[in-house]
Amino acid sequence: MLAGRRLILGICGGIAAYKAAELVRLLRKKGAEVQVVLTTGAEAFVTPLLFEALSRKRCFTQRDFLSPQGGLIPHTDLAAWAEGIVVAPATASFLSKLARGEPSDLLTAIVMATRAPVLLAPAMNTNMWEHPATRENLARLREFGYRVVEPASGELACGAQGPGRLPPLETLLLEIEGLFVEKSLAGKMVLITGGPTREPLDAVRFLSNPSSGRMAVALARAALLLGAEVHLVHGPLSVSPPEGVKTHPVKTAAEMLQVAQGLFEKADLALFAAAVCDFTPEKPLQGKVKKEDFPRTLSLKPTPDIAALFNARKRPGQISLGFALEEAENLLPRAREKLEKKGFDFLAANALSAFEAEETEIFLFSRTRETPRRFHGSKEKVALEMLQEVARAL
Ligand code: C5P
Repeated sequence: MLAGRRLILGICGGIAAYKAAELVRLLRKKGAEVQVVLTTGAEAFVTPLLFEALSRKRCFTQRDFLSPQGGLIPHTDLAAWAEGIVVAPATASFLSKLARGEPSDLLTAIVMATRAPVLLAPAMNTNMWEHPATRENLARLREFGYRVVEPASGELACGAQGPGRLPPLETLLLEIEGLFVEKSLAGKMVLITGGPTREPLDAVRFLSNPSSGRMAVALARAALLLGAEVHLVHGPLSVSPPEGVKTHPVKTAAEMLQVAQGLFEKADLALFAAAVCDFTPEKPLQGKVKKEDFPRTLSLKPTPDIAALFNARKRPGQISLGFALEEAENLLPRAREKLEKKGFDFLAANALSAFEAEETEIFLFSRTRETPRRFHGSKEKVALEMLQEVARAL
């Protein structure tokens, strides 16, 4: 996707500027041509020399804006050259300038002068990220059509804990690739179920499973990248869904069924990634039952099989994809059987060992192909590649 692409990487003055060096290396490894532009702030952290060596191109700085050489008009020439622009890290002050349309520096001027798609990767202190001014600027920038990749949470250089870190480079790479993917789900509505469900035993105890919801969130991101309207009906998640996804939080399987029902009718594509709890108590107990009084035997009944119920009502042209988590030995035959039995068009099978893992290996079965296709890597990468394949069936 990136081979031969002409990219500008704009780097602002934040600590994460050092990570941009590795990003240049990775982009070039994928075959992209990378033109680096440093803001004055960035030059206080990193040097043009580093980026010239990594990109094998002249590195532009603020000095080129005011005293260009060799007949160049740097901001417009670079803006016209670029097929895509990435600003990573984008500081609060850069976002503010761009939101106000104030091209007083080379990078802002390039971004304002281009027609190429632009991706902003903000990284800053958590309080700055959460400041109402930053919120407002980001909302405006999104309105202007800029794409924004949310910062990751964790420990920041200043010692604070929270959102503000530059996302992992693999996530960034994927978002950058997203600038060039064909919007094969444009105009389509995608329904995703995700996360575990919680079936209450009493007011404070519940039955559940350790699903993180990461696959559903990765699918939601991928569907957004491909241009879809995305609805995510989810149980408790350990990762937050990207901005732009319409989220419908639920707790129990029965609630998930109820909320997903109306959405399913409008969906072109339904992805059932929820780890729905298979059983629910016959009768949940009221209030918090004392430990001594808690029954030692639970009477359970099965939860509704959401995917099977919806699949039975599919209209022509509607496509569904389910997941199957199986012991490694029986993975392939069982997956084929589940596809047929539950009425899916596609079934993504993974081995039990992948349940809570970051990386995944999936075999994608379809009704129309004899042999499954294998996808491997981060859940984000697998989700995107898998959805591109599924979109072809729509
Ligand atoms: O039968 P099994 O639970 O392995 O099927 C897994 C697939 O069915 C997944 O796509 C899951 O989201 C979906 N499912 C569901 N409702 C249930 C159980 C599973 O939608 N009650």
